Formats: sequence, structure tokens, C-alpha cells
Amino acid sequence: MLKNKKILLGITGSIAAFKTAALVRLLKKAGAEVKIVMTPASLEFVAPLTLSTLSRNKVLSTLAENDSWSNHVMLGRWADLMLIAPLSCNTLAKMSNGICDNLLMAVYLSATCPVIVAPAMDEDMWLHPSTQNNIKQIKSFGNKVIPVENGELASGLVGPGRMAEPENIIKWLEENIALSKQLTEKKILITAGPTYEALDPVRFIGNHSSGKMGIAIAIECANRGAEVTLICGPVAETIPQGLKLIKVNSASQMYEACHHEFANTDIAIMSAAVADYTIKDPAINKIKKTDQQFSIELERTKDILQSLGAIKKSNQILVGFALETENETENAKLKLKSKNADYIVMNSLNNPGAGFGGDTNKISIFEKSGKEYHFETKTKTEVAKDIINTILNVQYV
Ligand code: CTP
Repeated sequence: MLKNKKILLGITGSIAAFKTAALVRLLKKAGAEVKIVMTPASLEFVAPLTLSTLSRNKVLSTLAENDSWSNHVMLGRWADLMLIAPLSCNTLAKMSNGICDNLLMAVYLSATCPVIVAPAMDEDMWLHPSTQNNIKQIKSFGNKVIPVENGELASGLVGPGRMAEPENIIKWLEENIALSKQLTEKKILITAGPTYEALDPVRFIGNHSSGKMGIAIAIECANRGAEVTLICGPVAETIPQGLKLIKVNSASQMYEACHHEFANTDIAIMSAAVADYTIKDPAINKIKKTDQQFSIELERTKDILQSLGAIKKSNQILVGFALETENETENAKLKLKSKNADYIVMNSLNNPGAGFGGDTNKISIFEKSGKEYHFETKTKTEVAKDIINTILNVQYV
């Protein structure tokens, strides 16, 4: 998988930088071509001579060297992937904020290839809210993070924060390169978030959906190489780059957008919490209060999932969600049939750790064939993997 891959290795100032000698050897052994950019701080931890010898390429660390300019744009364009290992807390903060004060940052900011990072820092720094926010932020840019490992740290403490071992970085890269091809040429349509039904120009009826589950599914599909269209209601979440995003407000806008896209879709996953009712005659101007009672007349919205189920071709896969509070399994199976879906992903509000807003979910998947799959409470990222693996009928990768 790494054979003939052009890998640009960025090294930052962390004690784990000494492991990059082994990392470069393993990358070369796997057949990759390796170029290296180091931050000034990393030069204290590992010698460029060691790395240039192992990589068989000149190691760069400044924008200008010996009257010549290190072309950061071309380095970024040369690479098939940029791997920053170890990633220090400081460089992570710069990546999160776009601070360009050295060659590595200039290359990162101009790189058009996937960027993968292997953080390395002490436990308390790793767990600090600002570090975790920065990790979240760079993930939202589409950067991938190789999980830190648990173990003895440079401080003498034992905990999370160690850079993944070079062998594990290679394993992670190989698995993810294989994964990134799994859905190539597949077009996937995903709905996410709530819909807002306007009462007047300033008020609406909505629901608590955060869009997190649908966005996690969209990211997972994009990671596996799919062309993703995300039709999203009003959400506060940051939507990562690289997805085709169609923003909508109301159920009828979501309906129109879905029907516009569906013919050109291989797999449609409807995770949005669509309003079942909308306001019959929304007021053009803001409704003024009076001393009288106030009632609103509601009318049914169109059921998007059901309408797509009615026109679905045999080579299209249609996945719906069911959020239930009672008779969960029975209701989910009914929805599978009545909406002509291939799969229904059921989450129950009775399960702690499932449903709206949170970062976890607990799901069961019901397949048209009658098969059922039940999962434990997991992060929405892991749940997204389970959903895609089930649809593709592949083992967890
Ligand atoms: N759905 C839809 N269009 C609607 C309502 C729901 O496409 N107008 C989709 C949702 O995106 C979800 C599935 O239908 O994939 C089930 O949604 P849910 O709210 O659980 O069920 P409803 O069909 O609305 O049924 P009920 O409210 O009776 O549970």
C-alpha cells in the first residue's frame, strides 16, 4: 500500500522525534519515497544528517537555505500524503490557527494532499481542553489523527500522550490507504440535522437534532473515498471541507434537495430529524401578542424517506433512521417496510448515551432480509463506521 507513495514527513519538537529514524526506515522499507521537513525545535532532538541518510533526500528546515528558497508550495504538491510525526502541542496550536512561522507550517498550509498527524505530548498537555479543541479543529479541516498511545512519558508519568510507535503508524497508514479506496466512485447522499418550520419571519418549530450523527457518517464515507453530498438542516457543528454541502432550513427544502440529488446516488442515508408537520399558513410579518389564546394549524410534511423508497432502483441502497421512545424494535421494523428502505438504523431515547446532541449513540440495524445487528454504546464516529461496515457487509477495518 505504501509502495511508491510520496510521503512528506514533518517533524516537530518533541522527544518522540528520536523515533523518526525508525519511522523513516520502515517507510523506505515499505517502498515509499520520503522527503522531510523539520521545525527548528526538532533539530534539538534528532540530527538531520541521520534522516537525510535514511531517507536519501535532503532534509529541509528553513524557508531559505544557502541562497536558495525552499519551495513550500511545490513540496506540498509533490506529496501523496503529509505525515506530521511527532506533532507537538505547539505545532498543533499553529495548525489549528493557521500560524505560518516556519517552513513546516508553510508546507502544511499549502499542502493539497491528505494530512495525517501523530501527536506526542505529556498527559496533562494532551488532556488540556485547548489541546483537545485544537485536535477537533484540525479534524474539521479534514486532517486525520493517529491515536496517541498510553504508556511511560518523558516526564516520568504514565498515561496517554505517547506518539504511536513507528510500526503502528505504518499499520495505521496502510489500513487507512486501503480504506480510502473502499467507496471510490460511489456517490452517497446523506441528510443530517433538524428542519425548522417557520411560524413567522422570526419564529420556527424545530427539534434538538445536532446533526452530529449524520456529519460523522458523511466524514466516514468521505474517508473511504466516496463522493459525498450532505444535505444539512440548521446545525452549529463545523462541516469538514471536501463534502458537497447543501444547506436547507425546512422539510420541504430538504425534500426538494434530496429529490434533485437522488437519481445520481448509489447509497442514500437519511439521518435528518425531519419535521413531520409544518405550519399551514406562516405569517409574513412577525405575529404580535394579544390577550387571546393562540393556536397554530399544522399540516403534514412529505416523508422524504418514503418518497425515495417509492422511486428507488434495485441498484440503489436506501438507509433510514428511526428514533423511538417505545416499542422500539417493532416500530423500526414497521418503518423498514412502510418506507421501502434497505436498512433502518434504530436509536432509542431510552438508552443513556443515545439520541440527540451527545457524542455517543447506541444503535441497532434492521436489514430488509430480516437480519438484525445490535451494537454497544459508542462514539458517533465509531457508530458511523458500524453503519457503513454493515451496509457494505465488511468487517471493521
Ligand atoms: N423522515 C423523512 N421525512 C419526514 C419524516 C421522517 O425522510 N418527513 C425520515 C427520517 O430522516 C428518518 C426516518 O424517516 O430516516 C424515520 O424518522 P422518524 O422521525 O423516526 O419517524 P417518522 O417516519 O417521522 O415516524 P414517527 O414520527 O411516527 O415515529
